[in-house]
Amino acid sequence: MITGAGKGIGRAIALAFAKAGKERHTFKPVLVLSSRTESDLHSLADECKTHGTETLCIQADIAVTEEREKLLNKTLDTYGTIDCLINNAGVGRFKPFGEMTEEDFDYTISTNLKGTFFLTQSVFAVMEKNRSGHIFFITSIAAEKAFKSSTIYSMSKFGQKGLLEALRLYAAESNIRITNVMPGAVLTPMWGEVPEKMQNLMLMPDDIADPVVNAYLLPSRSAVEELVIRPIGGDINE
Ligand SMILES: NC(=O)c1ccc[n+]([C@@H]2O[C@H](COP(=O)([O-])OP(=O)(O)OC[C@H]3O[C@@H](n4cnc5c(N)ncnc54)[C@H](OP(=O)(O)O)[C@@H]3O)[C@@H](O)[C@H]2O)c1
Repeated sequence: MITGAGKGIGRAIALAFAKAGKERHTFKPVLVLSSRTESDLHSLADECKTHGTETLCIQADIAVTEEREKLLNKTLDTYGTIDCLINNAGVGRFKPFGEMTEEDFDYTISTNLKGTFFLTQSVFAVMEKNRSGHIFFITSIAAEKAFKSSTIYSMSKFGQKGLLEALRLYAAESNIRITNVMPGAVLTPMWGEVPEKMQNLMLMPDDIADPVVNAYLLPSRSAVEELVIRPIGGDINE
């Protein structure tokens, strides 16, 4: 199950799983693709199909309780289980501290923290019963380093890191792997218009997607706990 699969990093992760399925005889992933924009999911599903990968598209806003329930129930009704959750859906509003509004706060926190927390709680219960599973959190370098324009975003990402570290204490007892993926700046729609000079300093979505799939495909006795992936020139937007 990949949240925020429609664009950017989530889309690249879905395609990387699909390509891995095409390349390996023993790996046949079935992908549940979810985000708020249905048309994105269908075009992604078409591309996955060209690699021979089965998909299920579920339009859902993880900030909304009923929509999280729809995502979970439709997945379980169709497949009966969930082996892997990629907590990728995330939003950011980037501006000076003094200009942040209550709406910016609620919008960011309801997706990045509340939505991520409760979806993870439901999926974790399924994995606990199975005594197996893998949960990735696409957090950020901003989960442990502050940027001036990212006060609320940083709060949410530090919070995700707190959640996954606490969850790891439960996961270890249930044979579940937790991976914190901390990318630096990646060229995705999240950034809006990006000047060409800056684009050349950024990571590409595939730079995150391929290590995620490789971490998933390692033998189940091993867990990649953290992936920290920065542009080679270091962080931009200090
Ligand atoms: N790009 C970067 O530089 C960077 C760096 C570090 C970490 N990250 C993190 O990586 C993740 C993906 O970011 P990205 O850069 O790929 O962003 P993006 O291009 O804006 O894509 C985000 C995806 O999440 C979906 N989404 C957002 N809110 C959602 C919600 N409430 N419910 C369901 N889906 C939702 C969006 O689709 P809809 O709008 O259609 O729902 C979209 O498909 C985020 O968690 C972000 O914080 C990004």
